[in-house]
Amino acid sequence: MGKRFFLNDGWRFSEQFKEELLRMDYDDTNMEQVRLPHTVRETPFDYFDESIYQMVSGYRRKVLVPEEWRGKKVLLTIDGAAHDSEVYWNGKKVGAHHCGYTAFTMDVTEQLCYGEENLLTVKLDSREELNIPPFGFVIDYMTYGGLYREVWLDVENEVYLSDVFVRSEVQNVQAGKTKLISEMTWNVAAEGLFVRQSFRERGEDVYRILGESPASETKLTLDFALEGVKLWDIESPTLYEIKTELLRDGIVVDEKTVTIGFRQAVFQEDGFYLNGRKVKLRGLNRHQSYPYVGYAMPESMQKLDADILKEELGLNAVRTSHYPQSHYFYDRCDEIGLLVFTEIPGWQHIGDAAWKDQAVENVKDMVRQYRNHTSIILWGVRINESIDDDEFYRRTNAAAHELDPSRQTGGVRAHAKSSLLEDVYTYNDFIHDGKARGCQPKRKVTSDKKKPYLISEYNGHMYPTKSFDCEEHRSEHALRHVRVLDAVAKEQDICGSFGWCMFDYNTHKDFGGGDRICYHGVMDMFRNPKLAADVYACQQEKKPVLSVSSSMDIGEHPGCNRGDVYLYTNADSVRMYKNDRFIKEYQKEQSPYKNLTHGPVIIDDLIGDLLKEQEHMSLAQEKEVKHVLNAVGRFGFSGLPKSVYLSALKLLLVYHMKVQDVVELYNRYIGDWGGTSTSYRFEAVKNGAVVKTIRKEPMHGVHLKTQADHTILQEKSTYDVAAIRIAACDENGNVLPFYQEPLVISVDGPLEVIGSKIISLKGGMGGTYIKTTGESGHAKLKIMPVQKDVAAVELTFTIV
Ligand code: GAL
Repeated sequence: MGKRFFLNDGWRFSEQFKEELLRMDYDDTNMEQVRLPHTVRETPFDYFDESIYQMVSGYRRKVLVPEEWRGKKVLLTIDGAAHDSEVYWNGKKVGAHHCGYTAFTMDVTEQLCYGEENLLTVKLDSREELNIPPFGFVIDYMTYGGLYREVWLDVENEVYLSDVFVRSEVQNVQAGKTKLISEMTWNVAAEGLFVRQSFRERGEDVYRILGESPASETKLTLDFALEGVKLWDIESPTLYEIKTELLRDGIVVDEKTVTIGFRQAVFQEDGFYLNGRKVKLRGLNRHQSYPYVGYAMPESMQKLDADILKEELGLNAVRTSHYPQSHYFYDRCDEIGLLVFTEIPGWQHIGDAAWKDQAVENVKDMVRQYRNHTSIILWGVRINESIDDDEFYRRTNAAAHELDPSRQTGGVRAHAKSSLLEDVYTYNDFIHDGKARGCQPKRKVTSDKKKPYLISEYNGHMYPTKSFDCEEHRSEHALRHVRVLDAVAKEQDICGSFGWCMFDYNTHKDFGGGDRICYHGVMDMFRNPKLAADVYACQQEKKPVLSVSSSMDIGEHPGCNRGDVYLYTNADSVRMYKNDRFIKEYQKEQSPYKNLTHGPVIIDDLIGDLLKEQEHMSLAQEKEVKHVLNAVGRFGFSGLPKSVYLSALKLLLVYHMKVQDVVELYNRYIGDWGGTSTSYRFEAVKNGAVVKTIRKEPMHGVHLKTQADHTILQEKSTYDVAAIRIAACDENGNVLPFYQEPLVISVDGPLEVIGSKIISLKGGMGGTYIKTTGESGHAKLKIMPVQKDVAAVELTFTIV
């Protein structure tokens, strides 16, 4: 049976590769000691030049090869090396790879020296002038360098399974009737070989035998009919483990277990169907980058992003823009039922013949390496937003179909009616500019109406939004996401949409806010939510969501006019109270966004019955006064809609009110200008019960709210990292969006802080990452505000 040995520790790194690194006797004690995942250069949070991670660097590591490995096959896998690598074993070249986003495996058996230390060296080129995808033109994301995923050795028997691809065909959804198809490959043809397969539901103890077959050549396809299996779905992502054993003369010489779900995922002319049920895809685009360390983050952080997308934002899909990402991310998508559209590396530019050959290789590597992930429902085989190139894309489509007959292809384009060789027309629809419709109808965009249509991006650069932008801006950002989602929901023949994008990210000089950050996220770089995140969170039913688009502070707005304030909730209604007096209950049906189950509702009344009760007005007068006062509150005196003039005239002529009377009422009931401070309470009501409450009133003190994604850290194949999100809040838990003060971060115990140890909150939010060091025990993380009257926070972690 094969055995895996991880090589993530004990590396020496130099920002400059030199030939001496290939020599065993080279004294590397002065080289930096690093662990993988590793980034060639830790970056500042913002304002840095992308040239800092571009270099030809060197990594080396000693590997003790025991005598017992004699007679075995030893395979070295590098899971992610950005971007062009040459690999040497004991100074001899054993492989090269020209893609920073796919893995590569080399047979190093011939080079091994048994019973002694061997030398593994990697020469890594992370310069962006490389003639491989995605390079050749500008790119709207940083491409960071490094051995940023894991490295391992598989020590195999003489005959071993080199690949097992398992897929299912669902024949009857209700009966769970499926066909399980496996394509198995092993390294050499040999006498007396047999393949045996068995399966079990994940979590079960025993495997059930499916069957076996003699294995004469070096590959075999087996299929088995199964009934009564639980299908994999976004709601119940049941996984099964399929064990394939390779036997020689009755003895098991190798085994591989593939985890899959049984499911049917098809894009059709009128929409996307999962197990026969039409599902509108609602997703966001995800980059694989993080503050400071670029791409270099371990398992827990990859999985956390999947959890945030599914559990926190309530999405059912993600697009891994613009390259294949960590297997840990897809593993989690498989486990939690998050559908994935994944694609080859590239951004707008198509290069020369050699570049295109590499892109075709990338398709093959992507499909071969990722095809056992049940969550993947579509292969992206075009360079993101590139022009038509039929000859090239005929090759990429053919490669994907040949290696995976079970999935359809797509390919992201930004040109309507462009040439369609893929199975699904996937298009970036940026039509919505705040005024124009939310999305275009299918017929305006696709070149073949018979083929399915999916929106791969919207918003993004159309409205960059910082968490520290003014309230109007942040509110409009959220509304733009609402308008597109609402429009897509209405179009029955659009399979769904992926918004741009999950979180802000560092980007090249040609993009972003000049500070090398693209503020396109519905979350910031630390994955703190902006208001727009709630637009998505509201569409799920599992957790109550309630947020108000305004802090209710009038002084934040030009002319002190709050503008439109929206309630974002997935509850049935929201009760609003002012100074603890009931004002109005807003029903979800009042949302103007009728195609969404939970569209935002506008707050149109800040007065309720107060005029009647406190000013003793007649019903008729009260109606007109409320109309005028509420309108002035929203639009200001100069921006009033015409209908308000009529009410105002009635107040003067019919009720003999003076302008001064109206102004006084305004100040008392709406403006609160200089008066006693006002408090607002909002209660989200679901099935008659209050499920969430928000209170907004002038703040008195700042306190830090922290959230660690996990507090028990565990070193498995490498170090572990925990993410800590930090927010400055008032006493009611509302984030203080203009609190930008510094915090000092320190640890006591076996943990390290990643990146800056003094950070400034931005938009009242920030974060940090802590990393294990290889030692176990307890550690404390201290977050110390520079501002004296804000209390420090201490978090305790256990490292096992
Ligand atoms: C698209 C592109 C994305 C991102 C986005 C910003 O054109 O595919 O990578 O740049 O625009 O809106």
